[in-house]
Amino acid sequence: MALYALGDLHLSFQADKPMDGFGLVWKNHEKKIEQYVCETVRPEDTLVLTGDHSWGRKLEQCREDLAFIERLPGQKILLRGNHDMFWDVKKTARLNEEYAGRLFFLQNNFAVYGEYALVGTKGYTFEGPFYLDRRGRILGWDQEKENQAKKLVEREMERLEKSFRQAREAGFRKFIMFLHYPPTNILEEDSPFTKLAEEYGAEAVVYSHCHGESRFGDSIRGNHHGIRYLLVSGDYVDFRPVLVLR
Ligand SMILES: [Fe+2]
Ligand SMILES: [Fe+2]
Repeated sequence: MALYALGDLHLSFQADKPMDGFGLVWKNHEKKIEQYVCETVRPEDTLVLTGDHSWGRKLEQCREDLAFIERLPGQKILLRGNHDMFWDVKKTARLNEEYAGRLFFLQNNFAVYGEYALVGTKGYTFEGPFYLDRRGRILGWDQEKENQAKKLVEREMERLEKSFRQAREAGFRKFIMFLHYPPTNILEEDSPFTKLAEEYGAEAVVYSHCHGESRFGDSIRGNHHGIRYLLVSGDYVDFRPVLVLR
């Protein structure tokens, strides 16, 4: 039994949004996803998909993308990404009812992997703009945008805390935390998300959303304060599912 994660599938079986223009790594990326996931993930494994699943705007425009995900091996757990317009937070329970036994939508709830609770939310990160000097050193940033970001972080933190709390109340003491957005800003400063992960003793924080060479280093990768941070954006890992736990 193993736990895998992969983010940002950006499928568009129904929407007219080819990804080829974003670089070679995206060429026939859905074929790579299918091949690599089928080669790696066994039926008894769990695969967490960390958001940006589909370009469809409404649920009806995402059905084929979700059906593609459903056909992949293992238990599939989905997190909300910033592009998942089909997924209204208030309708998460309805999605879980409709896809019961096929897909699990992780929001304001938690999933179980052995003795671990899998908790998560979309998250939010202040992404700038940062003003840099010629050597790439940060001189300042857009304060107004940072203030807006703080409000979004608060809302996401409430959702994440709810997920942790429910898991703890159900008796879980081991946690793996999932976010769509990176857990920190590009300065890799501690954030409410990293602090909550530390407070609950999460063993790993898994995130995606960062696309392209220049963004892969936007947040923590590797160990930080005893927690493993894993970036699993599809293009970062060439769409190969990343092993989180065995
Ligand atoms: Fe994305
Ligand atoms: Fe994203």
